[in-house]
Amino acid sequence: MTRDLHGRRILITGASSGIGKALAQQLAFLGAKLVLAARSEDKLKAVAASLPSPSGRGAGGEGAHLVVTADITKETDRQRVLAQAVEYFGGLDVLINNAGIASWAHFADSTEAILRQIMEVNFFAPAELIRKAIPILVNGTEPAVVNVSSMCGRRAMPAWSEYSASKYALCGLTEALRGELARFDIDILLIVPGLTSSEFSQHFLKSEGKAQIEYDKGMPPETVAAAIVKALKKNKTETWIGRDTQWMLRVNRWLPRLVDYLLARKVRKLYEGV
Ligand SMILES: NC(=O)c1ccc[n+]([C@@H]2O[C@H](COP(=O)([O-])OP(=O)(O)OC[C@H]3O[C@@H](n4cnc5c(N)ncnc54)[C@H](OP(=O)(O)O)[C@@H]3O)[C@@H](O)[C@H]2O)c1
Repeated sequence: MTRDLHGRRILITGASSGIGKALAQQLAFLGAKLVLAARSEDKLKAVAASLPSPSGRGAGGEGAHLVVTADITKETDRQRVLAQAVEYFGGLDVLINNAGIASWAHFADSTEAILRQIMEVNFFAPAELIRKAIPILVNGTEPAVVNVSSMCGRRAMPAWSEYSASKYALCGLTEALRGELARFDIDILLIVPGLTSSEFSQHFLKSEGKAQIEYDKGMPPETVAAAIVKALKKNKTETWIGRDTQWMLRVNRWLPRLVDYLLARKVRKLYEGV
């Protein structure tokens, strides 16, 4: 299957920065009609104003694509995003669950509030958006749901416990729904990116991890966006993005106990004398 994205009505959550913003730019360039959702209205409007119009003529500006300021953890906001998409474009063909947050600290030093907030944004919100979007997507053209998980959703990592759990949950939901949504002819695709140099680390709920992570050496968000667009076009079930992801998930597939051992050894070393 090759999905033609020209004229497709696509909702992107977390479109105000990073991967979501790069996705908006690449999908608009291909002629998609976009619904851009996030909490930061000014940033979303700036993204929309920078996009080409779906007709391919000049800059899109406000009006060519739809901006919906929304906190996806709120049921009323989720309903409003979908209702406005239907009102504006007459329906929806693709839902991209991209919005996400993380915390970088050890579980013992973290809080229930952080765990719940991460699960709200990374798991409950996309799950409920999917549930509410099914009756809309079923009338769409080659409808699809794209869930942006993480390498941590396929190999959990120390200091990323809440985040890993939320992304594992999203992977599990995606796999279960692949069978369920088949009866509606809705495809569901899983995206598994590695370290990406976006604004992600600036939004961490806690940032106390001790390992050296060179965020600026991560992939550009444009690379991740290009892989997501390709997956959508080719209808690829699961896409691993980045050398770190390819390497880690392959080693972990065959030698999970070695990975456990090496990670535990590293943590002991980092916390020696603490
Ligand atoms: N960066 C990485 O290394 C990496 C690696 C693997 C996977 N990922 C995943 O990729 C996705 C995009 O992350 P990114 O790297 O592009 O990070 P980012 O630049 O921080 O973007 C996150 C987006 O999510 C939105 N968002 C957060 N909470 C929200 C809420 N409650 N309601 C609505 N929107 C919300 C943010 O917008 P507002 O603040 O305006 O609401 C922002 O647009 C996430 O799911 C992340 O887990 C990232």
